[in-house]
Amino acid sequence: MPKTRSRAAARKPARRQASKQPAKKRSAPARAARPARRAAAPRARQSASDLAKRQRDISVSEFFAKNRHLLGFDNPSKALLTTVKEGVDNALDACEEAGILPAISVEIQQLDESRFLVAIQDNGPGIVRAQVPKIFGRLLYGSKFHRLRQSRGQQGIGISAAGMYGLLTTGKPVVITTRTGKRKQAHHFELVIDTQKNEPKVKRDDVVQWDVEHGTRVEIELEGNYRGGQHSVDNYVRQISLANPHAELRYRGPGQKPEQTHVFPRVAQELPPETAEIKPHPYGVELGVLMQMFRDTGSRNLRGCLQADFSRVSGRVADAICETAKVATTRRPREVKRDEAERLHKAIQKTRIMAPPTDCIAPIGEALIEKALRAEVEADFVAATTRRPTVYRGNPFLVEVGLAYGGALPVEEPVTLYRYANRVPLQYQQGACAITRAVTGTDWKAYGLQKPRGALPVGPMLLMVHVASVWVPFTSESKEAVAHYPEIIKELRLALQECGRKVSTHIRRQRREADEAKKRSYITRYIPHVSIALQEILGFDDRERDRTTRTLTKVLERTRKL
Ligand SMILES: Nc1ncnc2c1ncn2[C@@H]1O[C@H](COP(=O)(O)OP(=O)(O)OP(=O)(O)O)[C@@H](O)[C@H]1O
Ligand SMILES: [Mg+2]
Repeated sequence: MPKTRSRAAARKPARRQASKQPAKKRSAPARAARPARRAAAPRARQSASDLAKRQRDISVSEFFAKNRHLLGFDNPSKALLTTVKEGVDNALDACEEAGILPAISVEIQQLDESRFLVAIQDNGPGIVRAQVPKIFGRLLYGSKFHRLRQSRGQQGIGISAAGMYGLLTTGKPVVITTRTGKRKQAHHFELVIDTQKNEPKVKRDDVVQWDVEHGTRVEIELEGNYRGGQHSVDNYVRQISLANPHAELRYRGPGQKPEQTHVFPRVAQELPPETAEIKPHPYGVELGVLMQMFRDTGSRNLRGCLQADFSRVSGRVADAICETAKVATTRRPREVKRDEAERLHKAIQKTRIMAPPTDCIAPIGEALIEKALRAEVEADFVAATTRRPTVYRGNPFLVEVGLAYGGALPVEEPVTLYRYANRVPLQYQQGACAITRAVTGTDWKAYGLQKPRGALPVGPMLLMVHVASVWVPFTSESKEAVAHYPEIIKELRLALQECGRKVSTHIRRQRREADEAKKRSYITRYIPHVSIALQEILGFDDRERDRTTRTLTKVLERTRKL
């Protein structure tokens, strides 16, 4: 609209605006379209204050109720799997944090064609009564978001989102039974989430008799779809037991009787080593975050702040950073100006700082991966590689690869790829994941496998790839795929190559043995004929002929062993 036109003109019908245009610019089709333009209703103008009346806060639960696909609830079968996953993740995290060997049961009952009741029970520490409503009836509430420590959960959305999905699709509350110890009472809750306020509404809060010493049971009724195949709950439970050999899992699917419960026993009798919580490493901190940290710190001077709020910064390193940045070590962090912060940020990159501590990450470990693979997969050969921890954006992470080859695994199909992040199987978004990119980008031909371009290798192989970190960079809130950080892809490639070399030795040996066996059978077939020919030429008797056959066979054996 031309700037010079008045407000009144703006309200005039479109026909008059069109007629103001120079005639020569109007083409025939434009003239033909005129009646339609005349019909267009004038657009009502809205003032800023009209808009202001409609502007208001959006509660996080309203947002995720509308965008439930972001949390992994985009279709009924995925919703069922995500609910199980969130419950099991929390159960495993809680047990490990409390130092308890996990014994977890998952039950799914089909109530009607598309309605299911999911129950997850753990032997964890239980939940304090006052916390139950907030944990299950409020999105973005949890104990794991504000710390840098390896755990399955990190966002504080998981279980409350599953409860909210159940409520939205069935109108039923989440049912929680929890007990924190032998001498404590068990509590039974029924609660729903008020999506507009993102607040819990408790429907029932009773003390009950429960024959469990400590632990939590969560029951959620939801619209779902139970199906088999790659994305099935069965497959998920199998995969989670592979990556958590210290956990005992009991799984009862829809239509199964209690005695049909599938038990995945413990392979390891010890908990993974406890992981330490760490502070951010200075190398990965962005300028804005650094400035925020200076504002929030409890330290009174810069030297103290750098030492206390970051990992691996000693007094000497803090002095070196301040000196390079030409900022006094005694400066109050809150008074640090933007240009000073920028200089400090640059100085950090120039200063030599030790790599972050590695005790914040607990890998599964090569021995246990191999043991778990042997227990779960029928294969001729297993191998595993655990890399040393490194850093992306200041967050330590580590990559492990397990590999099973041969045996009952299908020969002509693409390899099976199990992806894990902090011991949680990733079931969806395989194509968008850094792990897949690293697997498809590895030259498997060099290791004796077929490799169609840009696709997974083909052969009797199962690959299990695990990324463990204090903060796994997922591509979305539903935690389905790992983001493509170059540092992570590089480590993945190195781990895959290491395992690839191990399997290639096995494949070559296998091929050599097969070749030799073929040659041997070929020669063995002709040995009796050679003896007969010798008998004829040299006039052997039958005894001598048979002795020659035996000697030649022995010579063949001996050369094979050499
Ligand atoms: N079974 C349980 N036993 C003990 N505590 C639990 C249990 N389930 C959940 N919690 C507590 O409730 C909090 C919220 O759980 P929720 O699943 O919503 O988020 P999260 O696990 O922190 O992160 P994420 O959204 O990534 O799953 C957890 O941080 C944990 O402290
Ligand atoms: Mg969780």
